[in-house]
Amino acid sequence: MSQVEDLARLGRAEAEAATAVLQRVLPPPLPPLFDASFVRSHLLYDEFVYRLTLAVAREIGLEAAIEEPGDVGEIAARAKLDARRALVPLDWILRELAARGALEETNGARYRARGDLPALDPAPVREEQVRQDPSCLPSYVVAETVARDYPAFLRGEIAGEEILFSPRRLRLWVDYFSNDNGLYAVNNRVGAAAFEQWLPREEGRVVELGGGLGSGALAVLERLEAAGRLGAIREYWFTEPVPAFLRRGQQALQSRYAALPGLAFGSVDMNRPFAEQGIAPGSLSVVYAVNTLHVAHDLELTLGEALRALEPGGRLVVSECVRPRPRQPIYAEFVFNLMETFRSPRLHPRYRPGGGFLTPEQWRDAVEAAGFADIRLLPDIARIREQVPDFFVAAVGASRPR
Ligand SMILES: C[S@@+](CC[C@H](N)C(=O)[O-])C[C@H]1O[C@@H](n2cnc3c(N)ncnc32)[C@H](O)[C@@H]1O
Repeated sequence: MSQVEDLARLGRAEAEAATAVLQRVLPPPLPPLFDASFVRSHLLYDEFVYRLTLAVAREIGLEAAIEEPGDVGEIAARAKLDARRALVPLDWILRELAARGALEETNGARYRARGDLPALDPAPVREEQVRQDPSCLPSYVVAETVARDYPAFLRGEIAGEEILFSPRRLRLWVDYFSNDNGLYAVNNRVGAAAFEQWLPREEGRVVELGGGLGSGALAVLERLEAAGRLGAIREYWFTEPVPAFLRRGQQALQSRYAALPGLAFGSVDMNRPFAEQGIAPGSLSVVYAVNTLHVAHDLELTLGEALRALEPGGRLVVSECVRPRPRQPIYAEFVFNLMETFRSPRLHPRYRPGGGFLTPEQWRDAVEAAGFADIRLLPDIARIREQVPDFFVAAVGASRPR
């Protein structure tokens, strides 16, 4: 059978099986977001990132570096990688390849070859994605762009931030952080559903942190509008510290919701006290964020600031990529491990043992330790992972005690 025929089948049966389970286990209103087309796109992208990872692994000489077993530090040294930057992404690469059976993990975090790494071309997977749902392509473009510079990054020749955020790459992010990108939009839609369900009162005041290019805010406003509840928000303060993102986010929101009173824009750094940035203690009904809190330098500080900014009964709502199980590799990390803020936050032994995404248990611990109550996850990943081990989108909600 040709490779094209194989790929036409790739992920189809699995997507149908997983979708059937998800339709049963996801609570309303989430099931329509996770149809078979989305689930297959998610599986295709997983395969695409795996194939890019194999290509990077070969290019950095990983095959020779794992002929003998080694831990991540030993393997990085054998491949002459930059110890300061490469350990977290290399650890991810090793876990990803081990999870796929392309190499062997021996007695806990030591790795060795199982023969040559498979040679798999990513391009046909991308073509299959075009046939399945071309709206997901921005995620593919970001991953393949990053993959080209990955070996230079791992050798310490170029900073990850330069690869990701050079001005000529702005277009990539405009297309990626968008509700038109089928693979990204679910983060915003799950967040918007949780926002609507958990909105503590009418006429609320909201601050969104790390609002980026505005797709998270648009999804919230569209959802409230569809439910006839736009009036439930008296003030929506959209914040984003990167000026080019803030400008675009503001344009997107103002052109869609020109007449909405209470839309305001500004820059808030979640790593600094909120009060000195214009957010008065006890003044908010909701602190909202999509895929932002996992890059907080000090999660304890940011959650503490969010708690102080909320009125009693006010709610934290964060939509996040949630890691189902410790050490489970997640495809978005292939890209975001290039960012120092992503891979090296301040650690906490219980709920922040490393950088990147948190597990459901770590979110609960972190939010509870900050003083929040009534902690919820939508959906409950800890339950869903038993049946769908690679489901990793959820909103985390919690209240400031009254
Ligand atoms: C994954 S993006 C969120 C995208 C956004 N929800 C959207 O739809 O376009 C994370 C955002 O967090 C922002 N961010 C990074 N560091 C931050 C900080 N210290 N304080 C607040 N936001 C930050 C980034 O600039 C980025 O826009």
